[in-house]
Order: sequence, then C-alpha cells, then structure tokens
Amino acid sequence: MCLNLHFFRDISFCQHAGAPAACGFAPGRSADISGSKTEHFRSIALTVNGEEVRETVEARTSLVDFLRDRLGLTGSHVGCEQGACGACTVRLDGVTVRGCLVLAVQCAGSRVETIEGVSDTGEIADLQEAFVRRNALQCGFCTPGMLLAAQELLASREHAGGDVPSRDEIRALLSGSYCRCTGYQAIVDAVEAVARMRLCSPSPSSGRAGVGSFPRQELAARAPTLPSPASGGGKEERTP
Ligand code: FES
Ligand code: FES
Repeated sequence: MCLNLHFFRDISFCQHAGAPAACGFAPGRSADISGSKTEHFRSIALTVNGEEVRETVEARTSLVDFLRDRLGLTGSHVGCEQGACGACTVRLDGVTVRGCLVLAVQCAGSRVETIEGVSDTGEIADLQEAFVRRNALQCGFCTPGMLLAAQELLASREHAGGDVPSRDEIRALLSGSYCRCTGYQAIVDAVEAVARMRLCSPSPSSGRAGVGSFPRQELAARAPTLPSPASGGGKEERTP
C-alpha cells in the first residue's frame, strides 16, 4: 500500500497535481487503491469491548480513527500517527497494538479492547489507582497507552509466575509510550508498586482490586490535587 495514503488523507496536501500519479492520487479525490469507488469500502464485523460491531468503513481508515470517530471511543488518542508515541495503543486479540498502524478492515473477526473496556471490567483498577496516588499522570494524553502497556507487562509476568520486573525492565517496556508531562519517574513508581503488590503477594483479588470502584472519570478529577509521591516523582527524567 502506498505510504502516501497515510500522510495525505486530505488530498489538498498532496503534491501530485495533474494526472493520476503512480501512488493513485489525483487532485480532488480519494486515493484509488482498488479500482472502483465502491471497492474503497468494506463491511466488517468485530468485537469491541465485548460487544459485536458491524460497520462499513473506508479501506484506509485506521483502527484508532474507527474507534474514535465511528464508535465514539475517544480514550485512545491520536498523536504522531506513525507508530512512535503509543497514544493510540489498544488491544487486538489480547495483544497491544498501535491503533494508528492497523487498518480497521484488518480487524474483521477480531477482538478489540480499548481503555474504556479494560477500565470498565476493573482489570486495571489497581494500576489506575496507583497512577493517581503517585501523580503519574497530568494531562492524561499518554495514560491509556501507558496503562495498557503496563498491564501487558504485569499480566505476562503473573501468567509466567515471574518476578517483579526491575525498574529498567519497566522503563524498557514503557519506552514505546511518550509522556510529555510527568517525567516518567512517577509512572515507573506506580507500575513498580503494582508489580510488587501483584507479584509479591498474589491473591484472588490481585490485579482486580477495587473492581468497579474506581471509574476513569476520577482520574482527571483527582490527579491535580494529589500530593507528590515521597520519591519526588515527577520531573527528574525525560526518558523512560
Ligand atoms: S498515534 Fe499511534 S503511535 Fe502515535
Ligand atoms: S500525562 Fe500528559 S503526556 Fe503523559
């Protein structure tokens, strides 16, 4: 697929003036990727946060755009749109992916989970609470991706019966998500705290503490008023 499909969604920015170029673009119309206009659209069926969804989407629509614009699931954010920042992270068949690098049509028949769904099940309630308690979020733009990445790490450790990840391991795992606010230290503090809680003293409630008791709306409401963590979490470092 021509990479220009990604960067020139608005054809007015395309440099291909005049006759249709090799990439399929021509002024004033969408990219011609499959012949007739009707073939630009596909009917797809998938499961999103446990609910069956059937929609007709343009073939070039990214998964994150589909989730946000068509389904109103705006917890996944759009930042760089090229796979670098992690703001668009969602789970596809149980594995975190960049929602900006996956097309919605590629998800036909799959199971997609967004931060809304994962939050509502209570799966990450302990992580969310730790993020708030340790001031690991400010604007919250990166937070859904951070939480899903952290959950993937911790769940895989729990499943494998592994040890508490080191701070370097946590940093490496979270290095795919950029945060422009917190300085990362507090995020690592929060993930480490939950890792110790889950992996050092496993219990039936491990990973599900406070199920349903910590709605995501509280994150933004509480974060600004919370005291800084004892570690001074916040500003020491700029890279995870
Ligand atoms: S928006 Fe997808 S990785 Fe940045
Ligand atoms: S909390 Fe603002 S980008 Fe991370």
